[in-house]
Amino acid sequence: MFQLDPVDRPGVLPMPRIDVDSIDWRAEHGVHSWSLDHVIRKGTPTVARMAADLINVRDRFRDLHPGLFDVCDVRVQRLMPGMFPSIPGWHCDDVPRNGYHSQPDLGAARNGVGHVVGTLSSSGEGVSRTEFVAEEMASFRPITDEPVWRQLHRHVEEGEPATWRAPDGWWVPITWRTPHRATPAVRRGFRIFFRMSMRPRPAHDEPQDRTVEQVYLLTEENGW
Ligand SMILES: [Fe+2]
Repeated sequence: MFQLDPVDRPGVLPMPRIDVDSIDWRAEHGVHSWSLDHVIRKGTPTVARMAADLINVRDRFRDLHPGLFDVCDVRVQRLMPGMFPSIPGWHCDDVPRNGYHSQPDLGAARNGVGHVVGTLSSSGEGVSRTEFVAEEMASFRPITDEPVWRQLHRHVEEGEPATWRAPDGWWVPITWRTPHRATPAVRRGFRIFFRMSMRPRPAHDEPQDRTVEQVYLLTEENGW
């Protein structure tokens, strides 16, 4: 696998210049299923600033997909080397499931619907970059009864497609066909992960912040 320069990736947009040394990291909180407008109004300073930068992207999405709603999820984490801020195996985001414990149903996903994701962290070189497969994987279909993402993980590992790791400070557009995975933190630090998705159901704009975050460790039993 090799890495591409993110500046050359189609659709990848720079975030506004934010001086990460000036961020009060302990004052930043994540959110769970908030609309972009709600994040701008009620989010913590840096999170709200990141959200404000996405207004044009959201408006363009809405024009292209009338009837869909912007829903934001933000994680703020303090990481130690080796911790994964998210799922360490190859997977896609937001593929519909019939129930909480059901497997993702690739046949039920809507074409064209996507997300924009981006990170900032307390180190200029990044704390943990998200790794993306460089092209959408349209050909993958689960063929056994094993968990869908385990099969996708193997499919990607065996196919060895081009991948790239997004540096902080860039908005990356992805769809439900863009496999990605977290990479382990390479240094100690704080990290904000911001994702805006377009979904058929509106955000619920709960008043409380999401303040408890989990991290992931690679172990034998977690299935990847
Ligand atoms: Fe993901």
